Amino acid sequence: MIERAGEPLRIVLGSRLPARDEAIARLIASGRGSLALILGDEARRYRLLARAVNWDRILIAYRGSTALGYAAFKHHRRGPFSPGFGPFRDEFGRLRGGVRYLLFVIAECREWYYGFYLHGLRVIKPARHQGVATALLTETFGQARQAGYDSVELEVQVKNQSAQQLYTRQGFVRVRTTPVNWLSRLLPFPAVMNMRRSLKPQS
Ligand SMILES: CC(C)(COP(=O)(O)OP(=O)(O)OC[C@H]1O[C@@H](n2cnc3c(N)ncnc32)[C@H](O)[C@@H]1OP(=O)(O)O)[C@@H](O)C(=O)NCCC(=O)NCCS
Repeated sequence: MIERAGEPLRIVLGSRLPARDEAIARLIASGRGSLALILGDEARRYRLLARAVNWDRILIAYRGSTALGYAAFKHHRRGPFSPGFGPFRDEFGRLRGGVRYLLFVIAECREWYYGFYLHGLRVIKPARHQGVATALLTETFGQARQAGYDSVELEVQVKNQSAQQLYTRQGFVRVRTTPVNWLSRLLPFPAVMNMRRSLKPQS
């Protein structure tokens, strides 16, 4: 818990919430901006994903009852979303929905080789630079340790330098920079950097 003027910051696992948090469902679903080409605009992403959130893969930062941000993670092949084909069919029709669903599944599967993977991290603008993401990362490391992992991995867009700075400060190191070659030939996916944070005690 981080004390700041006013209310303390609380980090809560989504599956421990007494009820589904609609505000955070909206924030998480709209956060898949890198897949906008497949999923459509923010409103569409919400309709496609918000009902398919795996709440045990989401950490939420609250001050009082206000959700300030989230960290979404993936391990044991279960990430923050498990949408079926139904919402894609309803949104785009059977054929176009089928193609988009397939592309979405391929894009998500791209992460299969990671152990514990930080899938997304986002803080609402008015709450930035107050240590919210740092607190979410600390709790994410705890989740990874509990699940038996000794490192956390992530992908960050090469152009997102402020996020890279945050990750470096939190002990992540660059593993490689991947232009997501085979996928970027089909779709304009941005170049990403892979980073890893060891959770082993420093010797
Ligand atoms: C990247 C992001 C998650 C950072 O969230 P944040 O809550 O602002 O991060 P933190 O406050 O923990 O740390 C960010 C900065 O605030 C500073 N800071 C932390 N606590 C502070 C405090 N109490 N007072 C002033 N500054 C503080 C940190 O030193 C850090 O400095 P830096 O920007 O020079 O690196 C946020 O900007 C965001 O949501 N961006 C859009 C989505 C995104 O890019 N996500 C990453 C995708 S991989």
